[in-house]
Amino acid sequence: MSAQPKNKPHSRPVKRARRITAPQITARKGGDPIVCLTAYDAPTAEILDEHVDLILVGDSLGMVVHGLPSTVGVTLDMMILHGKAVMRGSKTAMVVVDLPFGAYEASKEQAFGAASRVMMETGCQAVKIESGTYAAETIEYLVTRGIPVMSHVGLRPQSMHVLGGFKARGRTAEIADEILENAKAASDAGSFAVVVEGVSEKLANRVTKAVSIPTIGIGASAQCDGQILVTPDMLGQFERVPKFVKKYCDQLGATREAIANYAADVTDRSFPGEANLYHFNKPSS
Ligand code: KIV
Repeated sequence: MSAQPKNKPHSRPVKRARRITAPQITARKGGDPIVCLTAYDAPTAEILDEHVDLILVGDSLGMVVHGLPSTVGVTLDMMILHGKAVMRGSKTAMVVVDLPFGAYEASKEQAFGAASRVMMETGCQAVKIESGTYAAETIEYLVTRGIPVMSHVGLRPQSMHVLGGFKARGRTAEIADEILENAKAASDAGSFAVVVEGVSEKLANRVTKAVSIPTIGIGASAQCDGQILVTPDMLGQFERVPKFVKKYCDQLGATREAIANYAADVTDRSFPGEANLYHFNKPSS
C-alpha cells in the first residue's frame, strides 16, 4: 500500500451552502482540479460530501457491491436504488448517476426515458453515459431537454465484450484518434464533463487540450481537469486493483482483523462484555 501522509495540507474539507451544479463543474475547466469519487450508499456519501466536488453513483456497483463479473448485468432499478441512498447521504456535492448498459443505447427517446426516471426518482443532478461519436445525438437530445450529461470515453467497461476486456485503450494511432473524436463529439454535443478512462498519459493530455469541457481522469493523467476513482478500490477493500489505483488505506486488512477478533470473542464468551450489557433496576429483569 502507498504511504500517505496523514492530514495532508489541503484546502479541503470545503464549506458550501448548496449543491454544486453542472455549469459550475464546466466552469472549472483549466482551473483547480475537480475532486470526484464514487459512492453507492448513504454513509459513504456522507463522508465524501465535504471533500469532493462530484459523487458518481457508478455502475461499477455491479462489481464492487453486488459481486457481478462486469457492469453489464446492472439494471436501471439498481442504479435508482443506490442513487436514492447517495442523495440521502450527501448534501452539497454534485451527484451523477450512471445509466446502465441497455438503458440508453437503442434511441435518444429510450435514453430520455431512462435518464428522466433516474433524475425524478433519485433527485440527482445529472446522468453519465459511456459514449462514442454515435452518442452525440442522444447527448444533445438529453441536454436540450434539461438533463445534464457526463460522457465517458476511452476504456468503456459496458463495451468490454466488444473491446475484449478491461485493458487500457488507445495503443494504436487509429484508436487514439477515435477516442479523441469521441471526446470532441461528447463536448460538442453539450456534455458538461467527460470521464477519460484507461488511456495513455499522452492521449489524456491531448484530449484535455482538445475539448472545452473538463476531463475527469481515471487511469489517465494528472493533467486532466479532475480525477475519479472507485472508492472501494482506493480504500483498499480488494486485494487486486488496477495499476492506476492508489490505495489510501487497508480496509480489507482492517476488516479481516476485526471479523477474526469478533469471532474469537464470541467463541471464548468475552463478547458481549460488561460495557455491552443492559441491567435494568426492576426486580423482574
Ligand atoms: O462506474 C464507475 O464507477 C465509473 C467510474 C470508474 C468512472 O464509471
